[in-house]
Amino acid sequence: MDNPIGWVRRALVLGSTGMLSPLCIELVNQGITVGAVARTAESLDRLQQKSGGLDGRVVPMALDYHNRDRLSHWIAHFQLMEGPVDVVVAWIRHPVVPVLETIVAEVHAYRHIPWQLVHVVGSQNTMEPFSWRPSPPAQYQQVTLGFKIESGTSRWLTDQEIVDGVYAAIVDRQDFSVVGTVTPWERRPR
Ligand SMILES: NC(=O)c1ccc[n+]([C@@H]2O[C@H](COP(=O)([O-])OP(=O)(O)OC[C@H]3O[C@@H](n4cnc5c(N)ncnc54)[C@H](OP(=O)(O)O)[C@@H]3O)[C@@H](O)[C@H]2O)c1
Repeated sequence: MDNPIGWVRRALVLGSTGMLSPLCIELVNQGITVGAVARTAESLDRLQQKSGGLDGRVVPMALDYHNRDRLSHWIAHFQLMEGPVDVVVAWIRHPVVPVLETIVAEVHAYRHIPWQLVHVVGSQNTMEPFSWRPSPPAQYQQVTLGFKIESGTSRWLTDQEIVDGVYAAIVDRQDFSVVGTVTPWERRPR
């Protein structure tokens, strides 16, 4: 099977059991080992079950990503066991920067060549742009979740549209992308 992200062997997904759960499955389907972060062990179990029989696998990481010590420990453990992370997909609730800084520090402890930090942000980013950036060799990519206007009516994105947009960002390595649209901002769903 053609694999458009053949350079990715190991990925970390923060926010893995919510709307990004189908992304984890797609990555596993491409033979990738996915470190899946969420607090709830049961939902991680379900994700692991769904990935059964595919080429890659899910490594469940049941932790609160706001606990920096635990996050550091688990990322270090994951990389010791599996090898350096190639891609991190981060859908994180506030405060965001300490979580991203922890990820970058831990990945850089094991990896000295470029890797992708795909940061998924909500549409409020349109009004309050997120300006933090990591040091190299991290390649920071920001994916803004917008909305859709169809037949004159606006709606929020479906989970599948979000996953397709994030996956496209990994493949295309764009620095910035918007899933759907954020203009005109006044037309966003209320
Ligand atoms: N512009 C748009 O269209 C747009 C933008 C944003 C959101 N949305 C929609 O909003 C819906 C709900 O969003 P949501 O924020 O609830 O996201 P979600 O992706 O549905 O769930 C949040 C994910 O993050 C994990 N998580 C949350 N806090 C955590 C923590 N402190 N530590 C570790 N993991 C944590 C959750 O697992 P645990 O709870 O087990 O930790 C879960 O895996 C989405 O399904 C999406 O469709 C749409």
